[in-house]
Amino acid sequence: MGKYDGLFARIKELARDIDGVILHLIPERDPRGLYEASRHYPLAGGKRVRPFVVLRATEAVGGDPGRALYPAASVEFIHNYSLVHDDIMDMDELRRGRPTVHKVWGVNMAILAGDLLFSKAFEAIARAEVSPEKKARILDVLVRTSNMLCEGQAMDIEFETREEVSVEEYLRMISGKTGALFDGSATIGAIVGTENEDYINALSRWGRNVGIAFQIWDDVLDLIADEEKLGKPVGSDIRKGKKTLIVSHFFDNASEEDKAEFLRVFGKYAGDAKGDALIHDEKVKEDVAKAITLLREYGSIDYASQYAKNLIREANEALKVLPRSGARKDLELLAEFLVEREF
Ligand code: IPE
Ligand code: IPE
Ligand code: MG
Ligand code: MG
Ligand code: MG
Repeated sequence: MGKYDGLFARIKELARDIDGVILHLIPERDPRGLYEASRHYPLAGGKRVRPFVVLRATEAVGGDPGRALYPAASVEFIHNYSLVHDDIMDMDELRRGRPTVHKVWGVNMAILAGDLLFSKAFEAIARAEVSPEKKARILDVLVRTSNMLCEGQAMDIEFETREEVSVEEYLRMISGKTGALFDGSATIGAIVGTENEDYINALSRWGRNVGIAFQIWDDVLDLIADEEKLGKPVGSDIRKGKKTLIVSHFFDNASEEDKAEFLRVFGKYAGDAKGDALIHDEKVKEDVAKAITLLREYGSIDYASQYAKNLIREANEALKVLPRSGARKDLELLAEFLVEREF
């Protein structure tokens, strides 16, 4: 049995409950296109790590995970809304092994499907079985989380056309676009289960670091993953000119000649005027592969992987204030898996 088999089985089991809530809140109804587009990513699955974090965080602080079911669905709604809009912005054509929402239903319907999923996140909180005081606090966390997610995504887009982005700026950007929702998930789970502020703070810190590491690893996967396994396009960040930790390391270390070679490709194949990705051209594929080889040669991919793994070690340290339990163990194990995964 593999190290993570038990964890995967438990995620799968909880995912069934989460999916029940999500699909119940987005039924098949009119306007047909809107609801079909909104169900597209939830039906395709995904890893569902954020709702799992909510439920396990509640348990890890001694609470009843049954009460965290709607809040868990809520963070998965926020996540799915952000994916629909992210795929429009990144001009990506594949997600969870399927064509992206805007490729199937068009950009206008995709914007609306994202809006609906966002709205459903708040409907889920409205239905949560927690005290009015807790509900207000959860709402406050969710609002701050989605504000930060938008700020992070805005920085990500702004950085595409910037020549230089410091490591500090990059970390602030991913802390917003991805760290915030992991932090929010762990924090919300903790709020459902306890009033102990030390526990809530510990889970918040854990979630923030895990989310940052998760995004660094996502940036690594964008370069080295198998597209079939990943379920989304590989090399997308190179075509779009995304400023990642890997790219920063490369710019700090590469020769002028190699930098020039890299810049000939980096950000040069963002998309055509219709917003379609330029991934079907053999020349583009070759160029992107060459750019990735350069990043590998300078050890930039290894550098980022190591950075992510160190953050996970730090994150799991924060959990030590919680009593030992199966739920705490699951969170620790999940964190380790997130920077080893191939999808
Ligand atoms: C993808 O998140 C978006 C990022 C924050 C990098 P996931 O890798 O969790 O996507 P799914 O839910 O498993 O599809
Ligand atoms: C996305 O980062 C983060 C959010 C969706 C908020 P990416 O753009 O790297 O995510 P993927 O790689 O498309 O999943
Ligand atoms: Mg993207
Ligand atoms: Mg993006
Ligand atoms: Mg990515």
